[in-house]
Amino acid sequence: MKNIVIFASGNGSNAQNIAEFFATRQDARIAKIFCNKKNAYVFERAKNLGIPSRLITKEEFDSDAFVRELRETPADLIVLAGFLWLVPARLVQAFPGRIVNIHPALLPKFGGKGMYGDNVHQAVIAAGETQSGITIHLIDEHYDKGRTLFQARCSVEPQDTPETLAQKVHALEYRHFPEEIANYLQTL
Ligand code: GAR
Repeated sequence: MKNIVIFASGNGSNAQNIAEFFATRQDARIAKIFCNKKNAYVFERAKNLGIPSRLITKEEFDSDAFVRELRETPADLIVLAGFLWLVPARLVQAFPGRIVNIHPALLPKFGGKGMYGDNVHQAVIAAGETQSGITIHLIDEHYDKGRTLFQARCSVEPQDTPETLAQKVHALEYRHFPEEIANYLQTL
């Protein structure tokens, strides 16, 4: 049984979806959820799912003690599910090829600092794109730059708003993210 650790920053609907997917499986479980935002709804979800969760501060996020904590868990895979901080080099180097992110657009377009949640969907619509989607990728020390593992697409219609596009993208996330995590875990 492998351990997945989730980092989230807000609502946590992907975190919950991933946890529910693995709840009935023997290959992996969600060992812990870390969140950098006090009062984020993901804490409520973690409690309901019976998964330990904890707030992390910026200082401890980039510390050897945090690397030790993750190694002791042990974290076989770290999954960023709506997590908005850049992961420090210390962590990337401690878990090479073991940190996966989901981005709500088709990278390399619409990535980088500040590109999260509805900002991304707004930018996609403003650019007149006819397609958007999701990118599941390994992370390195730069925002949204690591190796792509998987992409899925949806159409962007002229009448789409950031809200309706977000719904389409979320649907792709819920459908594919847990499965792709399971596939990637098998290669480790
Ligand atoms: C998701 O759409 C995820 O792709 C996005 O934040 C949302 C979190 O929703 N992530 C990013 O924008 C990262 N740059 P959730 O908290 O309900 O899972």
